[in-house]
Amino acid sequence: MKITASNRLKNLMKSEIRIMSIECEKMGGINLSQGICDLPLAPALYQSAQKAIEDGINHYTRYDGLPGLRQAIAAKLWQYNKIQANPEKNIIVTSGATGALYATCLALFNRGDEVILFEPFYGYHEYTLAALDITPVYVRLQPPAWKLDMEKLEQVVTKRTKGLLINTPANPSGKVFSRSELDLLADFCLRHDLFILTDEIYEYIVYDGLEHISPGALPEIADRVITISGYSKTFSITGWRIGYSVCEEGLSNLIGCASDLVYVCAPAPLQEGTAEAIRALPGSFYKNLGQGYSLKRTKLCAALEEAKLKPYVPQGAYYTLADCSLVPGRTSKEKAMYVLAKTGVAAVPGSAFYHDGGGENLMRFCFAKSDDVLDEACERLRRLKL
Ligand SMILES: Cc1ncc(COP(=O)(O)O)c(C=O)c1O
Repeated sequence: MKITASNRLKNLMKSEIRIMSIECEKMGGINLSQGICDLPLAPALYQSAQKAIEDGINHYTRYDGLPGLRQAIAAKLWQYNKIQANPEKNIIVTSGATGALYATCLALFNRGDEVILFEPFYGYHEYTLAALDITPVYVRLQPPAWKLDMEKLEQVVTKRTKGLLINTPANPSGKVFSRSELDLLADFCLRHDLFILTDEIYEYIVYDGLEHISPGALPEIADRVITISGYSKTFSITGWRIGYSVCEEGLSNLIGCASDLVYVCAPAPLQEGTAEAIRALPGSFYKNLGQGYSLKRTKLCAALEEAKLKPYVPQGAYYTLADCSLVPGRTSKEKAMYVLAKTGVAAVPGSAFYHDGGGENLMRFCFAKSDDVLDEACERLRRLKL
């Protein structure tokens, strides 16, 4: 039988992150290309998940998740994000933030609708839109400040534009949208009648005293914002697949319907474990998270400086984009392969974050690694002679 990928999949098979991880494994290198946080788990998490399994919480949950988890998320949304959410009406527990974004797009957009994305973008954002025949429209932000360019934004709006997708703090740039930028975006979305999808998976990882602000907390746009987040990064449980969407009731019903259709629900005992951890962990846990990553950020950025891979120091999340113009190679892929061959450290070629011809002088390094692994990677990078 002849096997051919569907037309949709053909366009989605270019994951450079996967390729770099495979190349890195082949040579036994250190993988700073992938956003896997291998930090230890809080005992509250796995103890309560284990207990949930023993107690028989092993079946489908309601389409929007276990009530205890929705209540815990609602309390946290009010406390941290300043978003008022009714756990019975506004929250859908999903299979990770990835599931929340897919369900949201499936629920709200039609073939040919346009959604604006900022470049550099997180690959899954683009792929999710493309997989659903939604057209991504790109607005490029420039380093080092990744400043919002409202003129460019106005230029790309058409009759088909239905939404704007932002990521704050952002992967890969580390940009944290400021209050004044969000006010501009709010005004823009009101004028053009757009939804705002906001992926806040790195919400607790912000540096230098910056504040994470959720667009969903701005009253004038609250009814058109879909806040997407989850616990993959906050609790270092990327394999548990616990995420959520938060929005106005009518939208939430639609997203719940789409989420139910695609994967029914998030894993029941892991929902229970996550709920217990949200209830049990003190505020200091979240503070320490940011502080811990801040030390790793400093370490990696210093090593990149020394290696003449000038880092664009991130404001949040746990990645650094670095300028690799001094590295031999015509493309960012060749440059990333050169760095891997010389140092055994894998990073993602910048072109992975741009739709056409961008990012060729950028590489992304992830610093969500245990200290011994990160120290070894820094040591090797410092020895790179450019
Ligand atoms: C911006 C962004 N959103 C979402 C995700 C994935 O989140 P989840 O594991 O909850 O699906 C990632 C993971 O790297 C990410 O960088």
